[in-house]
Amino acid sequence: MTAAQAPDPPIGQQRGQASIPRHIAIIMDGNGRWAAKRGLSRVAGHRAGAEAVRTALQSAADHGVEVLTLYAFSSENWRRSAEEIADLTALMRFYLERELKTIEKEGVRLRLIGDYAAFGPDLAGQLERAVERTKANTRLTLVVALNYGSQTEIAAAARRLATDAAAGTVDPATIDEAAIGARLETADLPPLDLLIRTSGEVRLSNFLLWQAAYSELLFLDTLWPDFDDRAFADALEQYASRQRRFGGR
Ligand code: FPP
Repeated sequence: MTAAQAPDPPIGQQRGQASIPRHIAIIMDGNGRWAAKRGLSRVAGHRAGAEAVRTALQSAADHGVEVLTLYAFSSENWRRSAEEIADLTALMRFYLERELKTIEKEGVRLRLIGDYAAFGPDLAGQLERAVERTKANTRLTLVVALNYGSQTEIAAAARRLATDAAAGTVDPATIDEAAIGARLETADLPPLDLLIRTSGEVRLSNFLLWQAAYSELLFLDTLWPDFDDRAFADALEQYASRQRRFGGR
């Protein structure tokens, strides 16, 4: 069995024992429904969702989680109205501007996955400056997935391997799970332990498909804006109560 199939249990975590996940990813779903229930606009739901991001970030840091990966915009989200896309872009700019000082002070390192350049030079430049300013921080890594799609990411890894094989720097016979994992955007991050989706939908929606191979999956009815510190602690409890076997017994 290769390392990619059976990752070593994270430091401080024995196989099958209750513990804190090192890496949590969240599909933040339900902003629109949260707003509709209150007779509010969709952008009001996204604004409330951005506040929930703030809370989740704090909870993750407080509980000693190493990496929090958030699905902020999928490559399929371009199908939304131009107005909603503009609202989301403006909200991300506002949030970043307002939160950057706190993020720096709290020791959070910002990382990006996905083709965020598609949001235009203003947001892309602002994001890159924030990544640069926080790159030495070590308390928590916040990975924001922007214009991200897992199948595109895997295809890009395959393309890189094919290019290397054609150039003669990679022997096709040696291509294994680790070779692909090393060419994904998440290559430098710890294995994904827990993937949460809010709002009652039970789908991965093209998010971290490769990385979630051995993750615990948690589908919650809570709408994302209602995902507070109590909900975060409950999710950790559910994770701790599960027995992770990595394909063994
Ligand atoms: C899904 O809810 C949510 C999104 C597509 C956007 C997520 C964005 C945020 C939480 C705000 C900004 C993010 C950051 C990182 C500051 P939905 O609109 O699909 O909800 P619905 O399914 O109820 O309509």
